[in-house]
Amino acid sequence: MDKVFELDHPLVQHHLTHLRNRETPPHVFREQVRRLAVLLAAEVTRDLPLKEQIVDTPLEQMTGAVLAGRIGLVPILRAGLGMTDALLDLLPTAEVWHLGFYRNEETLQPVEYYQKFSSNPPDLVFVLDPMLATGGSAAAGIEMVKTWGAKEIRMLSIIAAPEGIAHVREKHPDVTITVCGIDRELNDAAYILPGLGDAGDRIFNTLN
Ligand code: PRP
Ligand code: URA
Repeated sequence: MDKVFELDHPLVQHHLTHLRNRETPPHVFREQVRRLAVLLAAEVTRDLPLKEQIVDTPLEQMTGAVLAGRIGLVPILRAGLGMTDALLDLLPTAEVWHLGFYRNEETLQPVEYYQKFSSNPPDLVFVLDPMLATGGSAAAGIEMVKTWGAKEIRMLSIIAAPEGIAHVREKHPDVTITVCGIDRELNDAAYILPGLGDAGDRIFNTLN
């Protein structure tokens, strides 16, 4: 599908399988989210613009290259927080701007409860949310980032349902979506099948 990228790598399959396992405890689940977010980050940053920079090695001077331009990370609370440090490890100068949504479990509509945006948006924004189920939260988050003024937006998720991808594609055809895996479908409660359950609860150990 145009602008939709599903990672094809044995490490993704390996870590995704451990992530999905119902026996995986929260501290391991968090590590798995982080590992998969690193793999997503490597993919979505493949074409970032560079600028030349002179560097003195211990032996001589050479012309190296460093990233050009401001990059913003917008984790959708809560579960998007689980991906943020992994992205920051690879992009230490990125800015983090938070967006809070929870999904009303009856209407399935996203409810906004927090926004922290400046008056000066970065040119490129990565929206982070491990789960793209109906796509309502992602589409609403992307809409807010667009209103903020970012020129280019890329969506990063760990697991997506076909319904969620279709929804985001319809609302935001200009936004690329990169995911570790595209699952089969949503169940009646709009949970992804086979999925992994509730990502936020598994990250933050709030299942009880
Ligand atoms: C989850 C997930 C997404 C959303 C996906 O968040 O992290 O934000 O549901 O569902 P959608 O595609 O149908 O909108 P949730 O509302 O459970 O909040 P949480 O991250 O605080 O647990
Ligand atoms: N949110 C989750 O955390 N998991 C799902 O399967 C759907 C929405």
